[in-house]
Amino acid sequence: MVDKMRWGIVGTGKIAKAFATGLTVLPEAELVAVGSRTAKSANEFADIFGVPHRHASYESLANAPNIDVIYVATPNTLHKENSLLCLQAGKAVLSEKPFTINAAEAESVIQLARAKELFLMEAMWTRFIPLVGKVRQLLADRVIGDLQMLVADLGFWADFDPLHRVFNPQLGGGALLDLGVYSISLAWMIFGSPSRITSMAQLGETGVDEQAAIILGYDEGQLAILYTSIRTDTPAEAILMGTKGQIRIHPPMFRPTKLTLSLTGQEDSLIEMPLEGNGYNYQAAEVMRCLQMGKLESDIMPLDETLAIMKAMDQIRDQWELKYPVE
Ligand SMILES: NC(=O)c1ccc[n+]([C@@H]2O[C@H](COP(=O)([O-])OP(=O)(O)OC[C@H]3O[C@@H](n4cnc5c(N)ncnc54)[C@H](OP(=O)(O)O)[C@@H]3O)[C@@H](O)[C@H]2O)c1
Repeated sequence: MVDKMRWGIVGTGKIAKAFATGLTVLPEAELVAVGSRTAKSANEFADIFGVPHRHASYESLANAPNIDVIYVATPNTLHKENSLLCLQAGKAVLSEKPFTINAAEAESVIQLARAKELFLMEAMWTRFIPLVGKVRQLLADRVIGDLQMLVADLGFWADFDPLHRVFNPQLGGGALLDLGVYSISLAWMIFGSPSRITSMAQLGETGVDEQAAIILGYDEGQLAILYTSIRTDTPAEAILMGTKGQIRIHPPMFRPTKLTLSLTGQEDSLIEMPLEGNGYNYQAAEVMRCLQMGKLESDIMPLDETLAIMKAMDQIRDQWELKYPVE
């Protein structure tokens, strides 16, 4: 008999639906509650996913009994407030990426979770995809020798709509926080903290970054060359280059299932690791594993690393003089 972990979701948008779908492949997970700004959305969402408890406010969801963990799936500028609300109510939290708008916000959420001894994690779901685990293993085994460079990108064409969350500064829009964070997080997973950060962005009509290039430099000379866009489809891949060969993570790099291993003087080999479910289930499984073990954070996506990444993104935005209205 499996003990069910009881999930709640804050928000009923695109990613909330994808996450709820992901939970359906996990027998130990039960989606018991959803909270929305409106009863209508809460009911529509709950009807689709068979959720028993629907709440017409986020406060009502956060304070409801019999919920173990809440997934925060609102626009970027609300992650801090919504995560604090759930933590204050004694719930463990999985919060969408970017974890918050800036490092100061991230720090306040992390501090509260630690003070209340509650589990907290950034929903950087890519880290939990099986193929990304395979990449970590190949690097630990030094299969491509000493890693020297990473080139990674993520960009999508989005029709310009100043009110949409990716263009709207009021909602923390821009390529860096929405998509660039995936490449930065990958670079962090591979190399750790950079010693130098240099970047350039093109800011659009609404003042947010529509495309950007970032170079992270490390103490031993390694480089991560990253680019991102909300106005152009980019290859969405990642290439790790070492002294003995390369690993090419095939698109989409945020949810990869294939890599090509190219070792000097050898035939390329393709490694495929299909997903079970839609891929969002792996991060949820990690949250439940941690909760069952009584852990307050994940070793795969630790809070200090989330905070360091937010600090790096602050530094990058400082280079562009990009501030959000909430800052
Ligand atoms: N991990 C991934 O693959 C992935 C993919 C896409 C997005 N994301 C992240 O997930 C978050 C949500 O993105 P999304 O694409 O799901 O956005 P979305 O479709 O616009 O949904 C956001 C939801 O947040 C709630 N909300 C609260 N205040 C809002 C406001 N002022 N404007 C709009 N919505 C508001 C709404 O739910 P109610 O009306 O029910 O309150 C809305 O449905 C973002 O932080 C984004 O970076 C992650």
